[in-house]
Amino acid sequence: MRWLLLCHALCLSLLKASAHTVELNNMFGQIQSPGYPDSYPSDSEVTWNITVPEGFRIKLYFMHFNLESSYLCEYDYVKVETEEQVLATFCGRETTDTEQTPGQEVVFSPGSFMSITFRSDFSNEERFTGFDAHYMAVDVDECTEREDEELSCDHYCHNYIGGYYCSCRFGYLLHTDNRTCRVECSDNLFTQRTGVITSPDFPNPYPKSSECFYTIELEEGFMVSLQFEDIFDIEDHPEVSCPYDYIKIKAGPKVLGPFCGERAPEPINTQSHSVQILFRSDNSGENRGWRLSYRATGNECPEPEPPVHGKIEPQQTTYSFKDQVLISCDTGYKVLKDNVEMDTFQIECLKDGTWSNRIPTCKIADCGAPAELKHGLITFSTRNNLTTYKSEIQYSCQQPYYKMLHNITGIYTCSAQGVWMNEVLGRSQPTCLPVCGVPKFSRKLMARIFNGHPAQKGTTPWIAMLSYPNEQPFCGGSLLGSSWIVTAAHCLHQSLDPDYPALHDSDLLRPSDFKIIMGKHWRRRSDGNEQHLRVKRVFLHPLYDPNTFENDVALVELLESAVLSDFVMPICLPQGPPQEGDVVVVSGWGKQFLQRFPETLMEIEIPIVDHRTCQEAYAPLKRKVTRDMICAGEKEGGKDACAGDSGGPMVTLDKERGHWYLVGTVSWGEDCGKKDRYGVYSYIYHNKDWIQRVTRMRD
Ligand code: ARG
Repeated sequence: MRWLLLCHALCLSLLKASAHTVELNNMFGQIQSPGYPDSYPSDSEVTWNITVPEGFRIKLYFMHFNLESSYLCEYDYVKVETEEQVLATFCGRETTDTEQTPGQEVVFSPGSFMSITFRSDFSNEERFTGFDAHYMAVDVDECTEREDEELSCDHYCHNYIGGYYCSCRFGYLLHTDNRTCRVECSDNLFTQRTGVITSPDFPNPYPKSSECFYTIELEEGFMVSLQFEDIFDIEDHPEVSCPYDYIKIKAGPKVLGPFCGERAPEPINTQSHSVQILFRSDNSGENRGWRLSYRATGNECPEPEPPVHGKIEPQQTTYSFKDQVLISCDTGYKVLKDNVEMDTFQIECLKDGTWSNRIPTCKIADCGAPAELKHGLITFSTRNNLTTYKSEIQYSCQQPYYKMLHNITGIYTCSAQGVWMNEVLGRSQPTCLPVCGVPKFSRKLMARIFNGHPAQKGTTPWIAMLSYPNEQPFCGGSLLGSSWIVTAAHCLHQSLDPDYPALHDSDLLRPSDFKIIMGKHWRRRSDGNEQHLRVKRVFLHPLYDPNTFENDVALVELLESAVLSDFVMPICLPQGPPQEGDVVVVSGWGKQFLQRFPETLMEIEIPIVDHRTCQEAYAPLKRKVTRDMICAGEKEGGKDACAGDSGGPMVTLDKERGHWYLVGTVSWGEDCGKKDRYGVYSYIYHNKDWIQRVTRMRD
């Protein structure tokens, strides 16, 4: 024992000399006590410093352990530690001193460094074989094991061997710190007059590491006021003013804030039309954010007074800058602004608190003087010939020569829109059409142009005389409407060269070559009822054949309309074919017996002849009676039209409708008034479509 004490000073230096350190950087390895598996020497000290890469920790366990045992492992021991703390101290024999030996115990380092020290004291009572240990780097699951809040992932954590990384929820971006999740919120523009702005995700905690900008931009003239409401919660600091998260408000030249903490700022009247809000958050903290509502107001305008018979919309208690109101008038009234009538008028409250325009007045809708009606007249049903809303007028046609188309009432009422309206025609005017086929003077049907009798004046008011400018009559015709004459096509051209019987344009009469005389009675004398009318255009039937007289019909358009009177009236067009045996009246100024011309208009009454009978009568003469022709006359002859009567009317009375209509126009015949010969007429019903198309006349 004394020797042992003597040795103490000496041996200490020896011990120091035998102490050494081993640096280990492998991912795994084995460490053993000196001399293993033989017994370890006394007074020895070995330290193994194991370092593994970041993200790993070290796992250490013992396969064999046999050390001197002592109270609190004072003599020999194996100590496992990190730079800061002792993780475990082992000594003793596995078989007997189980409480201090590692046994199955596995030691983990918290970080990537572990230091293992083996020490033996100066004396060994027995022979101890030491230890055999193994270490290896094992992964750290940073996602589940991290205690350090400052380093953990904000949203999602992903572990991999040797490390980890973070990711963010949908809509967030990973900040450059690779840990926190920020949002993109730098571009928020508000242009409405009111609105609500909140921190992102409000009322859930706002994102970290974010810089949000909000701009409220209104037209000049508005002033924005802000009011925080609901929760206000921004990370705070007891001494320093808002060092982490804050909200700052810039309004014109003024900057307000920074604001943070749990008490919301008082309502702010920015006096500006343009406000920028900055909200900033740092990379930590869970605070709920803020919510504010803003309102832009301008100068107030005085309450507008609605006009008499009008209203203003919308009705509000106050009106301020940019507010618009619409002025409209009651039904039947029109807005009158600067002498212009309109349906509505809009005014706007201006920056300076005045209205953009004066309030217009409401004026009763006025239809104005009704348009004149050709051949008609207007009677006012309301007193003082009023033409304002709800006034009434009546159109009527000049009786008895004209009647209204469609047999409508002709009553028009002034509508709220200021237009005259008829319940059938709407805003279009009625039409006055000439009355046809009802002469003022009715003929006395006496029995007796050829072998006829003088017509009574005024009983054939539709008859037209076709006359050369030198007053020489050459054909007859009939008035249709007030500006058309139907006549025979052969009346309107020179007789053809028998060798070349083709019709050329140069053969046609030009409008200036002849005139139309209406109201004529005397052949050569004239009376006060005559109207001499000029010709505008001439239309021959397109299928007219000058050789066979097929479709011997033509239309003459007058340059000026005939004035209808007791002696001038149009003839009606047929509604259907006449019946065989119907008596027709033929009139004209053509030749009479003995080649003489009559003094006045002559007429005859003859029956319609069966078409076959007529065809047979002309068969021996090799003259064709076609479908567009109709014959009339008596078998024994006598009464007939003759030269000079061509184009003139053959009419009959429609007893059902009570008017006379045109059956045919004088066309041809073999001689005049001969037995077994009939007068051949151009059949009007057959060509009615063509007539209506050219004259644009309807039924
Ligand atoms: N073509 C004759 C004329 O130019 C009319 C003939 C009428 N003759 C008759 N017999 N119906 O006037």
